[in-house]
Amino acid sequence: MSFPTHRPRRLRQSPAVRRLVAQTRLHPAQLILPVFVREGATEPRPIGSMPGVVQHSLDSLEQAAREAARAGVGGIMVFGVPTSKDAVGSGATDPDGILNVALRRLADTVGDDLVVMADLCLDEFTDHGHCGVLDDRGRVDNDATLERYAAMGIAQAEAGAIVVGLSGMMDGQVGHVRQALDDAGRTDTILLAYAAKYASGYYGPFREAVASSLQGDRATYQQDPANFTESLRETRLDIEEGADMVMVKPALPYLDVLAAVAAESTVPVSAYQVSGEYAQIEAAAAQGWIDRERVALESLTSIHRAGAAQILTYYATEAAGWIS
Ligand code: PBG
Repeated sequence: MSFPTHRPRRLRQSPAVRRLVAQTRLHPAQLILPVFVREGATEPRPIGSMPGVVQHSLDSLEQAAREAARAGVGGIMVFGVPTSKDAVGSGATDPDGILNVALRRLADTVGDDLVVMADLCLDEFTDHGHCGVLDDRGRVDNDATLERYAAMGIAQAEAGAIVVGLSGMMDGQVGHVRQALDDAGRTDTILLAYAAKYASGYYGPFREAVASSLQGDRATYQQDPANFTESLRETRLDIEEGADMVMVKPALPYLDVLAAVAAESTVPVSAYQVSGEYAQIEAAAAQGWIDRERVALESLTSIHRAGAAQILTYYATEAAGWIS
């Protein structure tokens, strides 16, 4: 009888050995918690398609941020849910708009412990639900939108955002917002560019979370799931324009893209485990079909293994507890 010479199983024999040789380790500091804050809310409101996630009041938002900071989470990404919307998304640039008010509150209370980040996009604030302003034929007007993004970036920086997350997928948005921030003396504001953002069905539950008014889709500005190389192109352009960090989104269905972007990026690469990814895990776990914690952690580990240095995840606070 001949025995195998190579025995990879030797390194799997016990938890202690497996721990020693693990190549990927999640750390709470690399997790970023996305949160929703609703104008006028006096208490948190559940989001049906995202069990465990809520639209916060300003008070419950502060509590959630403190809890995240205590758990060692690295950052918090804030989305606003305004009570009124209009064609140009005025609420986004109003210093008294819900997102800017929330940023100010977080900067004042947890700003030293948690990196405060703002979603820089108009879709939560426009009555048509698109990420930009529309031209007279109803199409998203790229260059007119850049002006709105510039004003929004300045409002967010003034409110206390350390990072602005450019999620609108307009051409030239990174360079334009960088220039506007620099001109306003905000040279320290960090730009996180959603460099490779796909037009994805996985954003479904998010639409409920922000009470989106979108009819139709975002296929003229977000990327086609069938494509790969344009993600590399988008990433290169964003880095050239001054992105300090880049992101791939969604995460798990796009690990090939994430790995390729991570291999060539000269700035930190993040990934966003989006609402639909969260909802899938929650729905199957609620049926007893999968082990919730195990699958959530396996998913986050895979996203990290594929190359994400930071991960936006609705599990951030809870996952920080699981891994520390
Ligand atoms: C745009 C934005 C979206 C998400 C984050 N930023 C929605 C979209 O592009 O349609 C989705 C996040 C998620 O699904 O968790 N402001």
